[in-house]
Amino acid sequence: MSDHVTIDPAILYLGTPVVLVSTTNEDGSANLAPFSSAFWLGHTMALGIGLASQTLANLRRTRELVVNLPSAADPAQVDAVDRLALTTGAERLSPWKAAAGYRHHRDKFGLAGLTPVASDVVTAPRTAQCPVALEACVESVHETDHALVVAQVVRVHVHPGIRAVGHPDRIDPDRWRPLLMSFQRFYGLGGELRPSRLATVDEEHYR
Ligand SMILES: Cc1cc2nc3c(=O)[nH]c(=O)nc-3n(C[C@H](O)[C@H](O)[C@H](O)COP(=O)(O)O)c2cc1C
Repeated sequence: MSDHVTIDPAILYLGTPVVLVSTTNEDGSANLAPFSSAFWLGHTMALGIGLASQTLANLRRTRELVVNLPSAADPAQVDAVDRLALTTGAERLSPWKAAAGYRHHRDKFGLAGLTPVASDVVTAPRTAQCPVALEACVESVHETDHALVVAQVVRVHVHPGIRAVGHPDRIDPDRWRPLLMSFQRFYGLGGELRPSRLATVDEEHYR
């Protein structure tokens, strides 16, 4: 006996972080695109990316990227993500994207009002405004109806303001406000709910 009902949702976007992925186009310019299918295991990162995207074409060719995480606490960064919505760096739109109202845009950094900054290891630039920027190298691309891209994070950049006091290599979750997407809409995190048993494991134990 349960209170569930069976439903048939078209999407299962139940709430994940928004990332801005920067990659390098064939002509050397930068592409920037929002994605929310992202998670991390150690320094391995998994991204779910549509087959028709410019981002995937660039990843296949260059095997490198920067994953920039915008802050929900800065309205300008949330606005930047929204400006990038319904755009693609790909010159040819898939029928699905054309029907959904997407349009081609070449200068995504300019469109978003974000500043590209040279990365240390990869050719794709990071965005100055995002508090977290992860340089990464592609390890594998698994294709189904989307591509599951697995990448290794090779360099972590953060704004000093989100670091934990006394722990220069840690991010303080009370200072870091990730932007989340749930069913195509923007949300932020609420405050901490209660003490966590998992958090009794020292972060260094994961190194
Ligand atoms: C907040 C947000 C989250 C998105 N998440 C994803 C995602 O997880 N996977 C995906 O394939 N597309 C996602 N999209 C759509 C892509 O941004 C879209 O396919 C875009 O055209 C990709 O740009 P590109 O073709 O220049 O790479 C998302 C869009 C927004 C605005």
